[in-house]
Amino acid sequence: MKNAVIPVAGLGTRLLPATKSQPKEMLPVGRKPIVQHVVEELIQVGIAEVLFITGPGKTSIENHFDINHELVQTLRENGKEELLNELEFDRLHVQYYYTRQRQLLGLGHAILCARSFVGNEPFVVALGDSLIGLNAESDIVERMEACFDEYGCAAVIAFDVVPENEIPQYGIAQPESDDEFFRLLDIIEKPDLDEAPSNLAVAARYIFTPKIFDALDRTRPGKGNEIQLTDAIKLMIEDGEKVYGVRLKDGERRYDIGNFESYFQAFIEFALADEKYGASLREYISSLNGE
Ligand code: G1P
Repeated sequence: MKNAVIPVAGLGTRLLPATKSQPKEMLPVGRKPIVQHVVEELIQVGIAEVLFITGPGKTSIENHFDINHELVQTLRENGKEELLNELEFDRLHVQYYYTRQRQLLGLGHAILCARSFVGNEPFVVALGDSLIGLNAESDIVERMEACFDEYGCAAVIAFDVVPENEIPQYGIAQPESDDEFFRLLDIIEKPDLDEAPSNLAVAARYIFTPKIFDALDRTRPGKGNEIQLTDAIKLMIEDGEKVYGVRLKDGERRYDIGNFESYFQAFIEFALADEKYGASLREYISSLNGE
């Protein structure tokens, strides 16, 4: 699969004031902005073309993936060539595309904006505010592709077990079995606890055939009066399409940067794993705990 779509238009209101004038996707986790981790995860599994669905206030994402000639020149002139390594990611062989979601009508509506970009090919959707695996080294998308090919799916979605109190924050699966790859019998967007069919939550990675667009065309506003991607997936299931789920592995954590609690956790875990600063940070944290 060569195409991926990264929706980044959301306002990030749960992270105010940090996100008042900068995109939440540009907040750093460890040394890199969140969205750079997401793009590197995708490149690692062979994605070559990335479409960002952006909105107002998100231009720093475009700047981040551009080559900044002035910065390169300044580093060279000041004898700081070693820092050029930190910019290597902007020379990777990926083509970036940007389009704006002109009205914030929901995640499903954002994905509809990718229609002519993807044409007739299957494509990956990776939410720009969620990381999978420490240092984003997960191969979840590769495993989803394996499932897609093995079962001839119309859609494959990654799922992760969440604690009960988090169930109402996510799209929740009704799986057919306990297998790693399972047929999805139903999916409900942000259910109340008593109507949740399981504790398996959408983990921010999807593969779709273009059939998703026909389903999105038919999707009426749902939770929060928004056009929900989850509701379009539900329509595909009702149409009899093969929709599968893939579970994250034990220990393969999903970091949802949508709120401060999980943002802080992600930052600390990535910083503790940092080659240069991790060990001393661990000591520092222990000293704070009086250990
Ligand atoms: C969106 C989806 C939800 C999914 C979640 C994953 O919700 O609507 O189904 O579980 O992303 O991060 P949001 O985080 O935009 O509220």
